[in-house]
Parts: sequence; structure tokens; C-alpha cells
Amino acid sequence: MKNRITELFGIQHPIIQGGMHFVGFAELAAAVSNAGGLGTITGLTQRTAADLANEIAKCREMTDKPFAVNLTFLPTVNSPDYPGYIDAIIKGGVKIVETAGRSPQEYMPALKEAGIKVIHKCTSVRHALKAQSIGCDAVSVDGFECGGHPGEDDIPNMILLPRAAEELEIPFVASGGMADGRSLVAAIALGAEGMNMGTRFIATQEAPVHENVKQAIVAASELDTRLVMRPLRNTERVLNNAAVERILEKEARLGKDLKFTDIIDEVAGVYPKIMKDGDMELGAWSCGMVAGLIHDVPTCQQLIDNIMNQAEEIIRARLAGML
Ligand SMILES: Cc1cc2nc3c(=O)[nH]c(=O)nc-3n(C[C@H](O)[C@H](O)[C@H](O)COP(=O)(O)O)c2cc1C
Repeated sequence: MKNRITELFGIQHPIIQGGMHFVGFAELAAAVSNAGGLGTITGLTQRTAADLANEIAKCREMTDKPFAVNLTFLPTVNSPDYPGYIDAIIKGGVKIVETAGRSPQEYMPALKEAGIKVIHKCTSVRHALKAQSIGCDAVSVDGFECGGHPGEDDIPNMILLPRAAEELEIPFVASGGMADGRSLVAAIALGAEGMNMGTRFIATQEAPVHENVKQAIVAASELDTRLVMRPLRNTERVLNNAAVERILEKEARLGKDLKFTDIIDEVAGVYPKIMKDGDMELGAWSCGMVAGLIHDVPTCQQLIDNIMNQAEEIIRARLAGML
């Protein structure tokens, strides 16, 4: 399957692993890239720019294929050392950056001068158009189904993807709710040129997270995610657990008066304890509705091969056969 996305990133299959906090380490990024997709190291999971440089070097030892680094631009007052991270990316020879969160406009000149391809992940057509206008090479269009931050518009991919196709000139991939060959063919039918997956890649052999996390995803159904932090306009789709129930109770009780400090115990700094130690009730962690479609823990190679085989079978047998 060749298209503008495979050409742009020099990858075999149009399948991307999105940046994921405390999941997107070198082990997962390399496994996805070795399997013919595009793996991604999550920049901000590395505490310093020097740590990111080490993670990039480690990934390079594990694969000779292209991989990306995710830079998530947070709406915080004390900004992380983005120039330092970008320096580590450039010096580490990484040629692809996935940006997310706020607009990457401020950092585009540095990235473009270094010959880096930028794919911006966003949840609306207007943000995708903005990304196109500031020189991003592609966008990842993240529907309301997605794990993590779906934005505040709540437009599912069945509408969002064809709307993006109506407006965009640069290529885009479908993100949110993608799991298998059916997702890939559907995404392409709706105008995308590939897909980005988060939750599905956590439940793989190589994802360097505690087994409890993988089993929680396998056990979950499509009914088991919740939206938290909507009153703060920082909506996050997470897997339901005791901590999430506490957040929702506080949100209902405090209404418009809710402040970040009211839920800080359930959301701040919880990722290492969940992802590394497998303490599944400790806090809120991102997970997509697609958990309902995840029933196994394959290797990345098996996952990507299955996706491509299933996609081919759907196109050849079901679609071409209908004509
Ligand atoms: C545990 C987890 C952590 C994530 N962390 C980040 C992150 O730090 N930065 C980012 O841009 N996206 C993050 N995402 C979003 C994913 O990159 C991806 O866009 C999303 O998971 C796609 O939806 P899906 O889970 O339905 O596949 C995260 C997702 C999950 C499940």
C-alpha cells in the first residue's frame, strides 16, 4: 500500500504509533518501525533534553528504519525546555516529529530548517487547516473516540475524516478508534491515507508497560472509558477506575467551581506508577473506546501484518467483489 504518507515518511505501511506518555519509549518505537510502521518516542516522558538524546540513541541501536519523536505542547505556565528537546531531535538525526496540543508554529522554522517532516495531531478541521497553513507536512486527525485528549468539539471520525478530506490539501491519517484492517480500509474510504493508533499499540508484547495495563485494555469493553476534566476544558478520555469515579464525583459536586488542584491527586504524576508498577486504580490514564476491539496482545510485527492482510482481503474480496 503506497501513498503520500508512506512516501513522506519512508515507511512500508501507512500505520503510525502516536506518542504516548510513559509508553512511547525506544522499545515500542523501534518495534513498530521494524514492523514497517512509524514508531514514535514520546519527548516529554524524558525528563530532560539529555534524556531524550539518550532515548533517541537507544532507539537508533534497535532499528535502522525511520522513527519519530512526539512533542506535546502543553497549556502550562512553566513551559518545558522545548528548544532543548528540538536540539536533541536534530542532533539525534530524527527526521520526523509528531506535534500535538497547542500549535507548533513557534518551533516550525527550527524544525523545517533541519529538514524535519512535521505531522501535527489535532481534533478539528480548523486546527488541521491551521497546521497546513504554517507548513506542517501532514496531519493526524484525532476523532472523539480517541484515547487521550479529544478536544472539546466531540466530532467522531465518521464525520471528522470526510470533513478533513473536503478541506485539506496535505495528506492526513485517521486517529482514534483504529485497531485493525477494517479500520485502515474505512479510514482510506473516508479520505485518509493511513492510520495512527495509540491504545492498540499498548496491548502489544513490546510495549514497555506493566502486564496489568495490557490486560486492563484486553478486559475493557467499548463502554468502559470516561471523559474527565471537561469543566477545565482539558477533556481527557480515560479508562474507568476508582480514581476516575472520584474525579467524576468531584466534577458533579463542584460544577463550574472545579479547579485543577481539586483533582491533582488523581491526575498529576500518576503515569509512572500506573504504566511501570501496574497500580491500575491509582489515577486516570488515557485509553480509547477502541479497547472494545482489542482482544489479544500480539507482537508489533504480528499486529501490523494482520492489519495489512485483513485490509488486503477486504479490498480484494469484499470491495472489488461487489462491483
Ligand atoms: C496512554 C496514552 C497516553 C498518551 N499520551 C499522549 C501524549 O503524551 N502526547 C500525545 O500527543 N498523544 C498522546 N496520546 C494520544 C495518542 O497518541 C493517540 O493520538 C490516541 O491514542 C489515538 O486514539 P486511540 O487510542 O483510539 O488509538 C496518548 C494516548 C494514550 C492511550
